[in-house]
Amino acid sequence: MQTISRQTTASTEAVTGEPFSLPPHWYYDAEIYRRESDAVFQRSWRCAGHKSEFTNSGDFVTVNYCDESLLVVRSLDGVIRGFFNVCQHRGHRLMAERRGNIKRAIICPYHAWSYGLDGAFKNAPNQRNVPGFDKTRFCLPEVRIEECGGFIWANADPDAPALRDQAPGFDEALRRFLPDIDEAAFFEGWTESLPVNWKVQVDNGLDSYHFSTSGPAHRQLVASFKDLKRENHDHWLISWGAAGDPNNGAYTFDPSDQRQDMDGFTLAWLYPDTLLVAMPMARVIMMYVMAPLGPEISATDYAYYGPPGMRDSAVTRAAIDWMDKILSAEDNSLFRGVQKGAKSRGFKGAYFMIDNDHSHFSEHPIERFHRLLNDEVTEANSPGAPRLKPDIDPALG
Ligand code: FES
Ligand SMILES: [Fe+2]
Repeated sequence: MQTISRQTTASTEAVTGEPFSLPPHWYYDAEIYRRESDAVFQRSWRCAGHKSEFTNSGDFVTVNYCDESLLVVRSLDGVIRGFFNVCQHRGHRLMAERRGNIKRAIICPYHAWSYGLDGAFKNAPNQRNVPGFDKTRFCLPEVRIEECGGFIWANADPDAPALRDQAPGFDEALRRFLPDIDEAAFFEGWTESLPVNWKVQVDNGLDSYHFSTSGPAHRQLVASFKDLKRENHDHWLISWGAAGDPNNGAYTFDPSDQRQDMDGFTLAWLYPDTLLVAMPMARVIMMYVMAPLGPEISATDYAYYGPPGMRDSAVTRAAIDWMDKILSAEDNSLFRGVQKGAKSRGFKGAYFMIDNDHSHFSEHPIERFHRLLNDEVTEANSPGAPRLKPDIDPALG
């Protein structure tokens, strides 16, 4: 493994034998935020939602990150298309809601310019009296759409690698652990803005070291599954375990209720900021997208999916309520604590506890995430600079 020193400024300054971690200012610096936005987020695949959310013409979801907003909508011809969510008149954001249905046309709230569900310009008040008005100039700029793992993804960069090329095996892994993912339906979702850098949340999502050390809800989480295993890949990872104690303190399940669909625990992460969690026997998949909105603010989109008909079942409801109200609150408190520490003069950067066996206590997944992010941001700003490529041993995970 390439070894890098702990450091406070340059991100590729190589030296000693310690694990690599991004310097603390990466958690609050405006210039780093701008670089991450350009090098990573404007080119990354953003999860819009499950394909079941685009069943009818006009069904839409907006995807918000950094300074950008995308609109993903099912057009009249049945094609799911993505657009920049911005009016071509004076730049007002078109759709403010996170999800919903557009009846006939996308209408800007400012001067009522309208667009078809296929992004074509339709009408502008007073357009007939404006000499030379060329309506062909004002269609909504389209972005790329891909389906992967039953979900619809959007990417604003026409040159970004396809999601299946960027994360080979991710689609197959989701289908292996969540075999009914194609049949899932949207249950509910909400967005929470948190005064923390997005990486605080991602670090935590990759951190199973804290499961048994961070308060009562995490101990309930640990009780709900057993035999945790993990596979690491370049741009994604997946952890899975068997159902644990039916009376884990979080929610109660019936251990005899085996259906082979979502019986176990699954946690999948896709670089940079998407996390998917399925709790054992709870029949619910939770999608978290932890997008940055600024150096020290992130907006987390939570969305819950599961087999149609399970939405109001006692076990599903109890699991959602526990994740929403109990586990998230415990994690959010940890996030705020870490964000405060990033600016302390007494903190020089994270030290990751990487053990020889890469056990589930080991923090190597977070180190790999830091190396990958460092590489992408460095490459975009200093082409040809040395890279810290994550060292992945599939045998160790
Ligand atoms: S900004 Fe949209 S109609 Fe004027
Ligand atoms: Fe946690």
